[in-house]
Amino acid sequence: MSHADAIETRINQLKAGSIPRHIGIIMDGNGRWATLRGLARLKGHRAGVEAVDRVLETVMALGVDYLTVYAFSTENWKRPTAEVRGLMALLVEYLDAKLDKLMANGVCLKAIGDKAGLPEKVQASLKRVEEKTKANTGLYFNIALNYGGRQEIVRAARALAEEVQAGSRSLEEITEESLADKLYTAGQPDPDFIIRSSGEFRISNFMLWQMAYAELWLTDTLWPDFSADDLLDAIADYQKRNRRFGGIDAKGKV
Ligand code: IPE
Ligand code: IPE
Ligand code: MG
Repeated sequence: MSHADAIETRINQLKAGSIPRHIGIIMDGNGRWATLRGLARLKGHRAGVEAVDRVLETVMALGVDYLTVYAFSTENWKRPTAEVRGLMALLVEYLDAKLDKLMANGVCLKAIGDKAGLPEKVQASLKRVEEKTKANTGLYFNIALNYGGRQEIVRAARALAEEVQAGSRSLEEITEESLADKLYTAGQPDPDFIIRSSGEFRISNFMLWQMAYAELWLTDTLWPDFSADDLLDAIADYQKRNRRFGGIDAKGKV
């Protein structure tokens, strides 16, 4: 059996079980991947983009509805200017090169994060792709850019406070639902499954509110090496989990 056929067989087997509706990925390890090969960090980011493509194809084949990838955090501005510039240029290149493919696959792309803080060129590319893909429903693909979970919650709290101040909302109407409605992910289901590559055991300010009951999966694999098989291994593990959401398992399992 060819590798592609083996992947297809695995996907079909997994589809018999529960597939996370929303997957979030903290794509980490591009820099280390490059350094290990004696390459510039930016080469690692470039290889990381290819891993995003592999994951996109696989999640679509699995029937996942929402995918959120963490591409640039509010803390990543601390990096050397050349790396930040390189990442931004890579992003514009990616958006311009992939628009046709995103359209052909029915992908709806949305940037989550403080877009106004991004370079003009990135904002323009994002606007074009978001506008063009906005009616697509095949896969909702969020790219977290200049994104921080705390920043997102503060922004939501301010939006609610403004409405209270203006008299259009009462204090009692500040609820989990109304706050979630002010997040970048308003209207989307919370992630069921969060994957982090590169062996770090931390969240790094990703989807703090939304991940309250997400299942976590951590792997030592560096992001540019992350393959379709890695994603399928992760899903297979997810399918063994017993999600109790604070309750007790109906089937009496412990
Ligand atoms: C993840 O890879 C990509 C971004 C944060 C932009 P890193 O660049 O963080 O790679 P490491 O962690 O330094 O190896
Ligand atoms: C998390 O990776 C952010 C992204 C993947 C965009 P980092 O490399 O920035 O996280 P830390 O610094 O190791 O926590
Ligand atoms: Mg990192």
